[in-house]
Amino acid sequence: MNIIDIITKKKNKYPLTEEEIKYVIEEFDRGNIKDYQMSALLMAIVLNDMTDEEVIYLTKYMVLSGTILDLKELDNVVDKHSTGGVGDKTTLIISPIVASCGCKVAKMSGRGLGYTGGTIDKLESIPGFRVDLTKEEFIEEIKNIGMAITSQTESVALADKKIYALRDVTGTTESIPLIASSIMSKKIALGSKNLVLDIKVGEGALVKNIDDARRLANLMIKIGKENNMKVICLLTNMDVPLGSNIGNSLEVLESINTLYYLPENNLTKLCIELSTHMVSLGLNISYEEARSKVLEALNTKRAYNKLLEFINYQNGDITKLPKSRSLYQITSDKEGYIVNLSSLELAKLSMHLGAGRKTKEDKIDPSAGIIINKGLNEKVNVGDTVLTLYTNKELPKIDSGALFKVEDYQNTSYNLIYETIK
Ligand code: URA
Repeated sequence: MNIIDIITKKKNKYPLTEEEIKYVIEEFDRGNIKDYQMSALLMAIVLNDMTDEEVIYLTKYMVLSGTILDLKELDNVVDKHSTGGVGDKTTLIISPIVASCGCKVAKMSGRGLGYTGGTIDKLESIPGFRVDLTKEEFIEEIKNIGMAITSQTESVALADKKIYALRDVTGTTESIPLIASSIMSKKIALGSKNLVLDIKVGEGALVKNIDDARRLANLMIKIGKENNMKVICLLTNMDVPLGSNIGNSLEVLESINTLYYLPENNLTKLCIELSTHMVSLGLNISYEEARSKVLEALNTKRAYNKLLEFINYQNGDITKLPKSRSLYQITSDKEGYIVNLSSLELAKLSMHLGAGRKTKEDKIDPSAGIIINKGLNEKVNVGDTVLTLYTNKELPKIDSGALFKVEDYQNTSYNLIYETIK
C-alpha cells in the first residue's frame, strides 16, 4: 500500500477501504506518513467527504492508536460533550447536577484553542485546583463523590491528537467526518457507554447550519451504536452566548451562582435539559422521571453543594478567584431592547482581553473576560451598561455595534434548542 495512491483515490472521490484507513492511521503514528501527506489527505476528505463506513473505520483505528480506559468497575456512568461554544460552562454545572442524582460523571476535558478557554482552563483559574489526576485518583474520586474532571491523558486516541493539531493549521477543522471521528474516538477510548452530545449551531460555532448539525448528529449516533454506546444529540443555538459571563474565572463564578440562584436564562434552561437526558440514560429511567430528579437536586441545593465538594476535593479554593486590574463598561447609546449579542464578536473580544489563546503556547489570563449586564431582549436606556470588560491588558478598539444591537422591538425568533435526535 502507498500513501500517494490513497491520497489520489480520495482526490478522485473514491471511498477508502478499511485496510487503507488502517494503513494511514498506523503509518502516520509510526512517522512513515509525513505531516504534509496527511494534510493533503485531510484536505481531500474535507472536499470530497467520506461514507459512514469510512468514518466508522477511521474512528476505530483512532481509538486503537492510544490507551483504552476501562470504566467497568463504575455503575451508571454518563458523559456529555459539547462541540464548543461561547460562554459554554455547562460541564461545570451539569456534572454536579447529574452526580447528585446518582449517576457517575467521569470527565476528561481539554484546554481551549481559539477564542475561549476549555473546561480545564476554567477549572485551572481556581487557585490550587488539580487537573492532573492519575487514573487511580480519577476513579477513586468518582467512587467517593460521584464525579471527577481531569485533563485528557496524552495517550488517549493518540492519532486524533496528531491529526487535530494538523487540522488546526491547515484549514481542515470544519469537516463532518473528521469532527465525528475525532470526538467519538476519544469518547470510545474513555469507556463512555452513555453519551449526551450538545452540537452547537451558529456563527460562533464549528457547525454553521442545521443540516450539517443533523448529519453530524446522525453520524455520531451511528458510530455510537457500532460501539455499544447510547447517544442522544441536542442541536442548540450558538448565535448568542450562554449565560452572562465569558472568561475563565468569570465562568466558574457564574456556574456557582447558577446552581445557587437558578436564574431564568438560556444557560439554566440548557443545563436542565442536558442533565435530564444524561440522568435518563445513566439511570435508565424516563425523561419525566429524570427531569423531576434534576429539579429536586437543584431546588434542594444538592447540586450546588456537590459542585463545592468537587472543587474542594480537587484542592481548589474559590475564595481566591483571580480578579483583573482594570474594568471597563460599554454602555448603550440608544433606548430599546437588546435584540442581538454576537457570540463570535464577543468571543473575539474576550480573546483580546486575555481569556483565550491564539496559539497553543499562549498563556491565558484567568481573570480576563466579559460580563453581559443586559441579556437578549432586556430593556435598556441610554447610558445603561450592557457589557463589562475585565482585563490586565490595553483595551483594543471596540465597535459596540458589532457586539450587540438595540432596537425598539424584541427578538422573538431566538430558539435555544432546535432539535433532539436519538
Ligand atoms: N472537538 C473535537 O474533539 N474534535 C473536533 O474535530 C471538533 C471538536
